[in-house]
Amino acid sequence: MTGAPWSTGVGRLPDGALAVAGVDVRDLVAEHGTPAYVLDEADFRMRAHAYRTAFEAAFGAVGAGVDVYYAGKALLTVAVARWAREEGLRVDTASSGELAVALRAEVPGAEIGLHGNNKSDAEILRALDAGVGRIIVDSLVEIERVARLAGERGVVAPVMVRVTTGVHAGGHEYIATAHEDQKFGLSVNAADGAESPAMAALLEVLKHPELRLLGIHSHIGSQILDPDGFEAAARVVLRLRADLSERSGVLVDEVDLGGGYGIAYLPGDVALDPERVAKDIAQSVSGVCQELGTSLPRFSIEPGRAIVGPAGLTLYTVGTVKPVTVSADDGADFTRTYVSVDGGMSDNIRPALYGAAYHAEIVGRSSAAETVLARVVGKHCESGDIVVHEVQLPADVRAGDLLAVAATGAYGRSMASNYNMLPRPPVLAVSDGASRVLVRRETEDDLLGLDQG
Ligand code: LLP
Repeated sequence: MTGAPWSTGVGRLPDGALAVAGVDVRDLVAEHGTPAYVLDEADFRMRAHAYRTAFEAAFGAVGAGVDVYYAGKALLTVAVARWAREEGLRVDTASSGELAVALRAEVPGAEIGLHGNNKSDAEILRALDAGVGRIIVDSLVEIERVARLAGERGVVAPVMVRVTTGVHAGGHEYIATAHEDQKFGLSVNAADGAESPAMAALLEVLKHPELRLLGIHSHIGSQILDPDGFEAAARVVLRLRADLSERSGVLVDEVDLGGGYGIAYLPGDVALDPERVAKDIAQSVSGVCQELGTSLPRFSIEPGRAIVGPAGLTLYTVGTVKPVTVSADDGADFTRTYVSVDGGMSDNIRPALYGAAYHAEIVGRSSAAETVLARVVGKHCESGDIVVHEVQLPADVRAGDLLAVAATGAYGRSMASNYNMLPRPPVLAVSDGASRVLVRRETEDDLLGLDQG
């Protein structure tokens, strides 16, 4: 097998071509064309299982229960939601559309959470009608809104309050700031002498008979490779829980620590290890609750990328190859080989949006050629349309070659667009030597079908 950042089912065949879960990528391409997203089902299931069992074991060892919600924003299709559920995960949604997919997959409402900093009345009603297990409220206005709508429906809405702890993480470090300048959540930090927005919101929820306060939610960032941030945020949330108990006599039962577990994108990257991180967080929260003299709540987490990111790859066909002479900062010239593929920023916006780094290989054949410094670019009409900024590819890379980009399972298809009227690629699942279409390729008819002339 080939190893990270490829999914566990990826390997090279004797003639050098790539296979995923026993399926030759050339066969996939012959049947489905390119570009195409390919999901290694067993890899997805393995990671879902690994996160659930690691957290259950570590939190169980300190006497706390835990639920793992798969964050559907990373990639949600009906089959993917089913896989998550079959592996014992719940599903976290962030819009009515994501909720619709989870419901179509027959995920029970009670196992679904609904997020969003600006949920519409229609979204809230849909969630209430589906009997979702939790609505994560994000503002005082929303607390009133959910209470009113629950009242209209004659139900009691289970809610968590999303708070901001000042802890931000992503990449290798975390930072903590008192007053955060961002749209999500309610701050645990008070302006001088005032009550914190988080405490005010929790107390407000308790006043409404149409609302049942489940607990407190915190999400600190994404692609986090240092678990210290989770522990720092958990400490702040648990202290808030203890303060609320003192203020109101209510010790809430649940604490959600959000998602953000980092993965390998490049060869040599080291992903967060679920067992290690689960143990670290479990031991830390157990110690904090002892210090505070409170019992442990039930915990939950919401990994998205860590479950589906490494399971996915994208297949492209190389169209043009162009050596470009580039002047370096030190005045020396060097050649960069621009390799254009048949997709780009419409199927993976992450390099353009975040400067995200990816790894690519030629996968339809082997090559004994030397490698050259290459940049894989798309077919869109802007120079920022980069798929892989920097990668060594064989010098004989040429039109017709198949190229695969690793670890595109998360936030690829889910953030795809139709820029330049490109139809979005299909999502193919491979497992045990067979493939199937989870989401079909869009056609020009799909695109024109929306246009009312
Ligand atoms: N829970 C909440 C409340 C979130 O906001 C997110 C991600 C997650 C869970 C899942 O985070 P994950 O485990 O996947 O890191 N588009 C960006 C990532 C945005 C993440 C937004 N929230 C990217 O492509 O890197």
